[in-house]
Amino acid sequence: MSALLDVRGLSISFGGVAALDSVDFAAEAGKITALIGPNGAGKTTLINCVSGFAQPDQGQAGFGGCALLGLPAHRIMGLGLARTFQHLRMFNRMNVLENVMVGLHGRMRRGFLAAMLRFPVLRREERALAEKAMAVLAEVGLARAAGKPAGALPYGDQKRLALARALVSDPKMILLDEPVAGLNPAETRVMADLILKVRDRGVGLVLVEHDMSLVMRVSDTVVALCSGRTIASGTPAEVQRHPEVVAAYLGGGEEFGLCA
Ligand SMILES: Nc1ncnc2c1ncn2[C@@H]1O[C@H](COP(=O)(O)OP(=O)(O)O)[C@@H](O)[C@H]1O
Ligand SMILES: [Mg+2]
Repeated sequence: MSALLDVRGLSISFGGVAALDSVDFAAEAGKITALIGPNGAGKTTLINCVSGFAQPDQGQAGFGGCALLGLPAHRIMGLGLARTFQHLRMFNRMNVLENVMVGLHGRMRRGFLAAMLRFPVLRREERALAEKAMAVLAEVGLARAAGKPAGALPYGDQKRLALARALVSDPKMILLDEPVAGLNPAETRVMADLILKVRDRGVGLVLVEHDMSLVMRVSDTVVALCSGRTIASGTPAEVQRHPEVVAAYLGGGEEFGLCA
C-alpha cells in the first residue's frame, strides 16, 4: 500500500541554489513522520511544496492518490492536508475563534470573507462552523481565550491556536512546522500530548522539529534532510545512530547542528 503522502524526486531552486534536490518523502495515516535537519536544510520548503505555497521545479507529490502539485493551497487543504506555519501567521487583531475559522475557509459555501464580514450576526452555516471551531479550541485548552485578540495570547497559546486552526478542517494529515519551537518544557509536554492524541485518532502527522528528545519519543519514522537532500530515513533509533546524522550534531546536544 502506498503512503497517504507520497513525494518523489522533488526539486526546487531559489536563485540557482537548490533548496530541495530530488527528495523522496512518504508519510502514512495514523503515524508521526518526523522531518529533521539543520536550519536551511529544506524542511519548510518541502512543506511549502506539498501544501501549495511553493511550486517545485521537478518531482511529484500525491495525497491519497491525488496529484498535489499545481493545485492551489485551499484545494490541497480541501483534500484533507492541513499545515501550520513556523512563523505563526496569525491575524493578530482578529479574535482567537476567528483565527481558527480561517482553517475552515475551504469548507464555507459562501466563502470565508463573506462569513467574516457578517460577524457577529452569524448565519446557520457559519454558526455550525463556529461551534466546530469552539470544540477544537476546547480540545487544545483555549476555549476561554476564544474572544481575545490572537495577538494578545502568550506565545505558547498561539502555538496551540495554530494547531487548532489546522485541526478544525478534520484533516487526514497535518504538516507541523516546528510546533514546539520556543515553548518551555511544560508547554512542550502539553503539545506532545496533543500531537499523540491527534495521531491516535488516525490522523497522519509530519513533524518538522529541532527538539530531538520529542522527535525520538513520538515518531514512527524519521527522515533527515541536509542541504536539500535526504541523508537518512528509518526508525528513530536507526536515524539517531546513522553516521551522517551523528556527524551533523554539535557535541551531542539536543539541537541539530551543521551538515556533515
Ligand atoms: N522563498 C524563498 N526565496 C529564496 N530562498 C528561499 C526561499 N525559501 C527557502 N529558501 C532557501 O531555501 C533553503 C531551505 O530553506 P528552508 O526550507 O526554510 O529550510 P529549513 O526549514 O530546513 O530551515 C534555504 O537556503 C533558504 O534560504
Ligand atoms: Mg523551516
